[in-house]
Amino acid sequence: MASVNYNSQIVIIGAGCFGLSTGYHLLKRGYKNVIILDRSSQLPAPDAASTDISKIVRSSYADILYTRLAREAISEWKNTQEWADSYHQTGVYCAMAHTDSYTDQAYQNDKAVGAAVEPLLNSKDIRSVFPSAANVSVPDNARGFINRDGGWAFASQGILRMMDKVTTLGGKIIAGKAVSELCRSDGKVSTVRCADGSTYEADLVVLATGSWSASAFPNLGLDTKCVATGQTVAFVQLTPEEAELYRACPVYLDFHTGFYAFPPNKDNIVKCAIHSGGFVRKIKSANLDVYISTPRTVASDGEDGLRIPRTALKSLRDSLVRIYPDIGSKPFCGTRLCWYTDSPDDNWVIGAHPDIANLVLATSGSGHAFKFLPVIGRLVADAVEGKLPPELVRKFAADRAHAHGDVTEPAIRLAPPADLLEDELCTPEDLLPVPLSSGWATGKL
Ligand SMILES: Cc1cc2nc3c(=O)[nH]c(=O)nc-3n(C[C@H](O)[C@H](O)[C@H](O)COP(=O)(O)OP(=O)(O)OC[C@H]3O[C@@H](n4cnc5c(N)ncnc54)[C@H](O)[C@@H]3O)c2cc1C
Ligand SMILES: *[C@@H]1O[C@H](CO)[C@@H](O)[C@H](O)[C@H]1NC(C)=O
Repeated sequence: MASVNYNSQIVIIGAGCFGLSTGYHLLKRGYKNVIILDRSSQLPAPDAASTDISKIVRSSYADILYTRLAREAISEWKNTQEWADSYHQTGVYCAMAHTDSYTDQAYQNDKAVGAAVEPLLNSKDIRSVFPSAANVSVPDNARGFINRDGGWAFASQGILRMMDKVTTLGGKIIAGKAVSELCRSDGKVSTVRCADGSTYEADLVVLATGSWSASAFPNLGLDTKCVATGQTVAFVQLTPEEAELYRACPVYLDFHTGFYAFPPNKDNIVKCAIHSGGFVRKIKSANLDVYISTPRTVASDGEDGLRIPRTALKSLRDSLVRIYPDIGSKPFCGTRLCWYTDSPDDNWVIGAHPDIANLVLATSGSGHAFKFLPVIGRLVADAVEGKLPPELVRKFAADRAHAHGDVTEPAIRLAPPADLLEDELCTPEDLLPVPLSSGWATGKL
């Protein structure tokens, strides 16, 4: 790692969860010159993974390292002076399949760290953790557990609060700066160049560009370590009266299928999604003979970038109807393809680039980093200062070896991602609860 001091010029690329939390923790430690650049002219960036109405905050992980770190994050989230009402402690209900070692291990870890968990041994127990007025359907042979310390965060608000903390501590956040080149001299990045021609000198650069990392910087060789996978999300608008019935529901999370659903937010919107292998969109990189998965979002493709594959929309519908029959019988009011940055073992990538000593990678959230917003930058700051414990250096190293089966997340995520096929994306008619049976109703015969 390059040596830095409190006066070093630190340039962080990307103002999402990783970049902002890193900036915050470095500033708190006394670093004086921290600049965060983001390509989006509007911040939080509308298509960043961290920009969202809700993200699950859970400590239920099969890897106890994440359980412990999530407990620290949750105790921060609960501080309303820091985060206002960003955090909603509704509890997280984890469904357990009968052969589901991930969730069983997650339960054991939660218990071991003293989380408020309760086993739910049958459908009656499970039904009892949902409000009685909600129309919830629980299969007879179901089992699971609830973690009452968990819940969900209003992600965009959390990001805005973190932006505030950064600027309060003297950090600069500059929007509309798409970094296009990392100029090197003596094997180090000396200057960061933006698409608009502006340049920033740097002693240390932190790359926190999320799902764009591999495609935006093809020369860094990140295409297998930071794979952009599109994940499918859909929304249902409830009336205020309907929403009241579900407001106190816990987050519903089924690792076995990957399906999860949130209680309605303040705008009475229910979000549901599938944590899965997702979809890749491989595009040939300019100059190099490699195909790199590249996000397709509202920024690159307008409203069209929000559409998800029709098959995924159908499985969202099927799962939602199965769990919340009334909600599932309403139309979806929107969808989103939201891009994970996946490493091969679902552990994050935090540490120096193998070939460039003063370039620190802080990415590969692998679909589970947001909840750590208050604390994740501490790990990056430790990496910058060479203070990360050796086992974490290895765990998060960009060039670590991936042992087969050494995964932190459930087996379902081992399913390889499918190719994103644009002519199989959903259309507005697909958002309706039942397919229209006759041609005249859609105006198409
Ligand atoms: C559908 C979905 C659901 C999720 N659910 C959860 C959940 O329930 N709980 C949880 O903990 N986590 C969840 N996650 C994961 C979490 O959102 C991510 O791990 C986390 O937000 C990643 O943060 P990031 O900073 O790496 O990326 P981002 O938030 O995407 O930030 C990257 C930033 O870099 C900027 N950028 C990109 N390229 C450039 C460039 N060339 N120059 C300058 N700036 C650039 C972008 O504009 C963006 O603002 C979910 C993710 C998705 C997609
Ligand atoms: C739950 O919703 C389904 C589908 O709308 C409906 O048939 C059923 O009667 C509802 N049950 C209750 C208890 O309201």
